[in-house]
Amino acid sequence: APKHPTICGMPLKYVSLITLAVQNATLSIVMYYSRVSTPPHLSYSPAAAVLLCEILKGSISFVIAIWRAQDISESHWSSRKSFTGFVQSLFPWSAPFRQVCSEIFSPDCWKLSIPAVLYVVQNSLQFVAISNLPVASFQVAYQMKILTTAAFSVILLRKTLSSTKWLSLFFLAIGVGIVQVQTTASNSGMREIRVGSAHDAAPLHIHIMSPLKGFGAVTAACFTSGLAGVYFEMVLKNSKADLWVRNVQLSLFSLLPAFLPILYGPAQPPSMSFLSYLFRNFGGWAWATVAVQVFGGLVTAVVIKYSDNILKGFATSLSIIISFLASVVLFDFHITPSFIIGASTVLAATAMYNQPASPETKITSTISGG
Ligand code: C5P
Repeated sequence: APKHPTICGMPLKYVSLITLAVQNATLSIVMYYSRVSTPPHLSYSPAAAVLLCEILKGSISFVIAIWRAQDISESHWSSRKSFTGFVQSLFPWSAPFRQVCSEIFSPDCWKLSIPAVLYVVQNSLQFVAISNLPVASFQVAYQMKILTTAAFSVILLRKTLSSTKWLSLFFLAIGVGIVQVQTTASNSGMREIRVGSAHDAAPLHIHIMSPLKGFGAVTAACFTSGLAGVYFEMVLKNSKADLWVRNVQLSLFSLLPAFLPILYGPAQPPSMSFLSYLFRNFGGWAWATVAVQVFGGLVTAVVIKYSDNILKGFATSLSIIISFLASVVLFDFHITPSFIIGASTVLAATAMYNQPASPETKITSTISGG
């Protein structure tokens, strides 16, 4: 494979970063709308969405892993003019299939169980956060991921950070704090969202938000994101296994924790089958949320492979601007001076954190590789 692959002449590294920024903004908008646009008794099950995402992400990664393995084995077998080579040409997928399966169930596959559980918790918390916060506030608060990722990198990877990076993390916390205070202070208790067409005098229904619950969920999601990200990086860089095989392992280990809330959730009524109860109210917006989430997981994998986690943080912070502009247009989001100050501080802190100057920034790969 070429070292610097391109798409339409543009390096895949940048294409994947821009795609990730747009995907992040789209996900929060689509997920937000999917949660607030229907009254609670008509909304879909987030647990079903999380489970479906893992099944789809795992299946797509499995197909990509086989496809990549087939490319390798094709050149291997086509060079052999033997009976085995002939049989292999009749069933081109059998050898790659067996090879990928043996890689998936390798002895070290259990290592993926830790990030798998953490990502399931994170993906579930995301639903709680987005149902209780305005999109733009959610996006700004979610930038605390950079803070937790740095903290876990220091603790687990023994990475050292320059004083500029510590300072930028301090500014990041201040910026998130400003947005948090203004979002919760302006609605000290519950917040009502009147959902309906702009021309309607009466709203279709009123969505109740609890910003404190939302910020609690987003803070917890930032912790699991940081820990899972650093752990995944550690596993990926300490072995030669293919990224797509790792993704399949991640999805496989996610199935059990994703299934638990369904198992221990309310029982289905006798008149309904298990599947129709699980996917009740699963409309277009729910499917769109799942599709964007699955796409995001795959793009994240490509970004980790062709770029790095530092640039990934920068790409996601660009999504603040996109969701901010979109929520002003779509959700009648009111811009307040403190939101602008808070969001600008977060953006400036992210840019400061991503300064490539000091050699310490390169230390991650050295430490995690050895
Ligand atoms: O918080 P962060 O930006 O790291 O979000 C990671 C998201 O990408 C999670 O939803 C996680 O399930 C997904 N992911 C994935 N495959 C990976 C790494 C992350 O699907 N290899």
